[in-house]
Amino acid sequence: MTSYGMFQLSPEHEMIRQAARDFAQKEIAPIAAQFDETGEFPYTTIKKMGEMGFMGIEVPEEYGGAGMDTLAYVLALEEICKADASHGTIMSVNNSLFCHGLLKFGSEEIKKKYVYAVASGQAIGAYSLTEPMSGSDAGNMRSRAVRQGDHYVLNGRKSWVTSAPVAEYIVVFNMTDPEKKQRGITAFVIETDKPGFIRGKKEPKLGIRASATSEIVFEDYRVPVENRLGEEGDGFKIAMTVLDAGRIGIASQALGIAEAAYEASVEYAKEREAFGHKIGEFQGISFKLADMKTHIEAARLLTYNAALAKERSKKTGERYTLEASMAKLFASETAMFVSHAAVQIHAGLGYSKELPVERYFRDAKITEIYEGTSEIQRMVISRMETGLR
Ligand code: CAA
Repeated sequence: MTSYGMFQLSPEHEMIRQAARDFAQKEIAPIAAQFDETGEFPYTTIKKMGEMGFMGIEVPEEYGGAGMDTLAYVLALEEICKADASHGTIMSVNNSLFCHGLLKFGSEEIKKKYVYAVASGQAIGAYSLTEPMSGSDAGNMRSRAVRQGDHYVLNGRKSWVTSAPVAEYIVVFNMTDPEKKQRGITAFVIETDKPGFIRGKKEPKLGIRASATSEIVFEDYRVPVENRLGEEGDGFKIAMTVLDAGRIGIASQALGIAEAAYEASVEYAKEREAFGHKIGEFQGISFKLADMKTHIEAARLLTYNAALAKERSKKTGERYTLEASMAKLFASETAMFVSHAAVQIHAGLGYSKELPVERYFRDAKITEIYEGTSEIQRMVISRMETGLR
């Protein structure tokens, strides 16, 4: 039984981790470089991940999921991201930003219709909060939703929507009452094959290139009232609650990237020779490895701790905002620190596309940006601690 400090993995947790590791190393790792290069969406492997239950790990079986807990989700996502962070992004958005939000705030009909399809891997889900002029200041959005009888009419432009080019369903946040600012935002789940939904500019990205990201545009798009999540004006709190879950996913992703970069570095330091020694014998390299390992294990404890806090909250209803933000902040900065050091240890080879090390470095950067930048995580953590605003 594996234990990490105070965490002991149960046989079920070991099993899901091993299943994810085997699948990721056998099916994803060998194709990761090719999909990174072309920026193509990896439909075949994503479909297989759906069949294996990875697209709705925490979703109850009656809604198409695997019915496991948050730690199982984190362990599986970490392993997928160790092979390829792009696959991890698609998995994370499906699980935490789409299924989790709908399970928590959607009606029974919504759960049966939309969660089932996405959790069972038959469809891809997305989450759309950001706009060209509102990223960190999420409450400052301009997209509108105007009620007309039994429908709302949506207009506006959203940006940086992960999986938007391929998603069948999207959770979207629009202003119903701009005067009320954050309290005037409403959440909906929308279908992308209806008139008035337009896929906009695809983002050419530095990393996670095989995950598709684009703008979306609404032009008089009609969404039925039944597709609203919660009440009018609940949207901002729904967005933030869902992001608490999402941030645990990004922490797991960052942990997976850091582990991959670290393991490659240890191997290389044991093999490569310079000046008649293995380079791992030089303090310049060995101290780097020591710092990388220490950061990774600290990030792991914060991430698993956040997973347990989320699990507890299913019973107590307590928020786990602090745990999620600390895990995301530390793990993403660890991914950047470790992958940067890994490139340096590999030197010329680390800079070459012949090894995956430069991809780890490029993929790591997004974890400090999406689902709340490191600056936003520091703001959330310090506000929680001081109560000041
Ligand atoms: N859970 C529940 N409620 C929350 C909450 C949380 N985590 N955080 C805030 N709230 C509530 C507050 O209690 C407050 O409630 P009242 O109105 O009852 O007082 C309300 O929401 C407004 O909160 P704030 O006054 O704190 O709001 P703010 O405007 O100051 O913003 C913020 C706070 C933390 C900066 C927030 O705007 C934020 O997290 N910004 C970053 C947004 C972000 O992460 N964007 C990424 C989008 S997804 C993505 O990256 C793309 C993708 O496809 C993956």
